[in-house]
Amino acid sequence: MSVRPLVDRLDDARVVVCAGPGGVGKTTTAAALGLALAGRGRRVAVVTIDPARRLADALGLGSLSNDPERVPADRLTALGVTPPGELWACMLDPQRTFDGLIAELSPDAATRERVLENPLYRQISGAAGGSHEFTAVARLHDLVADPRFDVVVLDTPPSRNALDFLDAPDRIAGFLEGRAMQALLGQGRTGFAARLARRGTGLALGALQRLTGVDVVRDLATFFEALGPLTDGFAQRAVAVRAILRDPGTRFVVVTSPAPIPAAEARFFRAHLQQNDMPFTGLVVNRVEVVAPDDAARDGARVTAELTDVLGAALAGKVGRTWDEHRERAARDAETVAELATAVGDPRPAVVPTQGGEVFDLPALGAIRDVLVAG
Ligand SMILES: Nc1ncnc2c1ncn2[C@@H]1O[C@H](COP(=O)(O)OP(=O)(O)O)[C@@H](O)[C@H]1O
Ligand SMILES: [Mg+2]
Repeated sequence: MSVRPLVDRLDDARVVVCAGPGGVGKTTTAAALGLALAGRGRRVAVVTIDPARRLADALGLGSLSNDPERVPADRLTALGVTPPGELWACMLDPQRTFDGLIAELSPDAATRERVLENPLYRQISGAAGGSHEFTAVARLHDLVADPRFDVVVLDTPPSRNALDFLDAPDRIAGFLEGRAMQALLGQGRTGFAARLARRGTGLALGALQRLTGVDVVRDLATFFEALGPLTDGFAQRAVAVRAILRDPGTRFVVVTSPAPIPAAEARFFRAHLQQNDMPFTGLVVNRVEVVAPDDAARDGARVTAELTDVLGAALAGKVGRTWDEHRERAARDAETVAELATAVGDPRPAVVPTQGGEVFDLPALGAIRDVLVAG
């Protein structure tokens, strides 16, 4: 059975999650996939996380917007994206996303203010949302429901562990129950705030209080009390997000480079998706060293011989050795790609060659898009 190119496999997707180890080109891939899907007439929102400044500029994200902005149509025409296809992009802003979530889930304005204005809110929401995983899925939930978009492409955070992201919905519940806080304080689970207030401080809190003069314990207690009315909302949201991640319209694309550590992490990630019933759709191996078929036949000795007259023996010898190193790297990468393809179960991974320069403008993104479309 022939397997379709990656982008064909995404034709009916509602959500595309680009996941994988950090630094391998997830943000670039997410943007290139967005471009590819827009080129097929879909209205695409790409959620990028910490895009390189110049890529953000290329996408028209000058204003650091947490809300999707449309990439001007005239910039896209040259890349073959025409109506009804649209490309929108935004940059995840964890704090604003978190504030928005609190506002949305608060039953009334008074509750919202109580939470947002609690002196501990910034720190606690920063700890829960600062790692991006939590807010990335919160954002995903909003954009999936947004009628302006047919499909949402989600870049994922540069986490140490790519798996953190998958557990994000559970962290919504964890945050609410203050589990991390409870563990920190060594308190039991029930009546946390009340017990905290009654029992007074653990040693660390006591010291902190003396140093800062802030009544941490009282503030914590008030904070979790203020969150109380949001309990149901948080729980429902966690369920909804979990459902989105397991929906048949959701596709996980695993992005990696052929370097040993990312490649190993990609395999692990793939297995984890399976264990969690999350639909894996395809593999992108980015920054692969490739040798053109014509060049594969020439070895370094021949290159040296060809260049000796022009460059002199010493330099021509160096070029020949570099040439061979390049061929060896390409051979190693080809082997890794083949192994990975088997290990993750994608017989037709998208193999993206290392580009000449960084990928920071729309034409460069278009070149990667072309590779992904051709599969
Ligand atoms: N195929 C490629 N060839 C050359 N440079 C690339 C390629 N893919 C990504 N890059 C560059 O590598 C850097 C990291 O890419 P990025 O997409 O931000 O990775 P991640 O999101 O996984 O951290 C960026 O500077 C980007 O321009
Ligand atoms: Mg990134």
